[in-house]
Amino acid sequence: MHTEHNWTPASWRERPALQLPSYADATALRDTEQRLSTLPALIFPGEIAQRRTRLAAVARGEAFLLQGGDCAESFDAFGQDAVESTFRVILQMAVVLTYAAACPVVKLGRIAGQFAKPRSSDMETVDGVTLPSYRGDIINGNAFDAQARQPDPARLLTAYAHSTTTLNQLRALAQGGFADLHEVHRWTADFVRTSPQGERFAELANRITESLAFMEACGFDAARTPQLHAVEFYTSHEALHLHYEQALTRYDARTGQWYGGSAHMLWLGERTRSLDAAHVEYLRGLANPVGVKLGPTASADDVMRLLDRLDPNGEPGRTVLISRMGSAKVLEALPPLLRAVRRSGRKPVWCCDPMHGNTVTASNGYKTRDFERILAEMRGYFAAHAQEGTYAGGLHFEMTGQDVTECRGGAQALTDEGLSSRYRSACDPRLNGSQSLELAFQIADVLKAARAGSI
Ligand code: PEP
Ligand code: CO
Repeated sequence: MHTEHNWTPASWRERPALQLPSYADATALRDTEQRLSTLPALIFPGEIAQRRTRLAAVARGEAFLLQGGDCAESFDAFGQDAVESTFRVILQMAVVLTYAAACPVVKLGRIAGQFAKPRSSDMETVDGVTLPSYRGDIINGNAFDAQARQPDPARLLTAYAHSTTTLNQLRALAQGGFADLHEVHRWTADFVRTSPQGERFAELANRITESLAFMEACGFDAARTPQLHAVEFYTSHEALHLHYEQALTRYDARTGQWYGGSAHMLWLGERTRSLDAAHVEYLRGLANPVGVKLGPTASADDVMRLLDRLDPNGEPGRTVLISRMGSAKVLEALPPLLRAVRRSGRKPVWCCDPMHGNTVTASNGYKTRDFERILAEMRGYFAAHAQEGTYAGGLHFEMTGQDVTECRGGAQALTDEGLSSRYRSACDPRLNGSQSLELAFQIADVLKAARAGSI
């Protein structure tokens, strides 16, 4: 029987744990965990409390959650451009949604810690050679050679260092002037500027700039309105690598609660949400908001038990249920879950990840996703919520601001042949900056209709 008092940051170790690496050198792992546990947490309790307040507003239907970033961050692709481009496209998408639906948008990156990946197979075979699968840069290297694929505990410290630098850059971008609404014209990447979505965004930016000028001419003091000059930007990642997460868990004496210090929000993947296993055990004891991915095999019973375990007191802003059913299944698989949760009186945030149920292999072997199917799952998600009388509170994307060629379709009409030119993802295919913005305009139309009650 689980009770709150027998939770500790290490109690997950007594449960079966899926998807964790096995390290050859147990002493090196222990030393690294010890070192990490003495370093400062990346996120502090006050920030986590603020984040929960924002999510509670989403749960009440007063705001919308936009979560996005890489499938897997990588140590190599790291640098000022990668982070800035993702940040700016999230900002653009958020402005499109805020303007169209007149609804505050809570911005949450899959960033500054998204380094560990669950895999469907432990081993990978290429040309007759079998090696351990790549599990994300915090565990091993992507290169197909025996040494790179060996899990290395030193990578935990590198991931911590990368997360720290990324977070520092994000805090500067969010607070240091870049995100000022008066700068809205500067957020568009060069390669998007001349595209139809780039032009549509420029029109929107003109309207915003005109409105600001009008308000200021009427005597509105923009300089005294901090919301115009900075944004709140939060971080999240899948809480997969429990040795790392435990080492960054801290006790807040002021509130008497434990919190995960690696990100504002942590989520459980579709493969690690088993009720009595290690990952659920670890997350249930934290004060952070927690997400759970729900694929088409999740039953209403599974969802209710997960909510009971992770959020026994039904606290506002505590849980985010992230459905990822696939475009073909969403209308069948999602409504029973929405109904059961609604009937229980619980109010989690409902979010939709229209990426992970729609991954296919292209004719030339690339893992890809079709823009149209992503859009179709998203529409199905809004329709299911409208039908059940629940609030479709957010979307979760794998995306980058950069000009990659990983997902098919969209206005750029990317084809299988086009995928090879700039396929850079270390794991799953991401929407590029242009496709992300295009999608934001489509979502804005759906969101506007949903808020007007006409879906
Ligand atoms: C992911 O978000 O990258 C992921 C692996 O998702 P899921 O757990 O939904 O498959
Ligand atoms: Co992914």
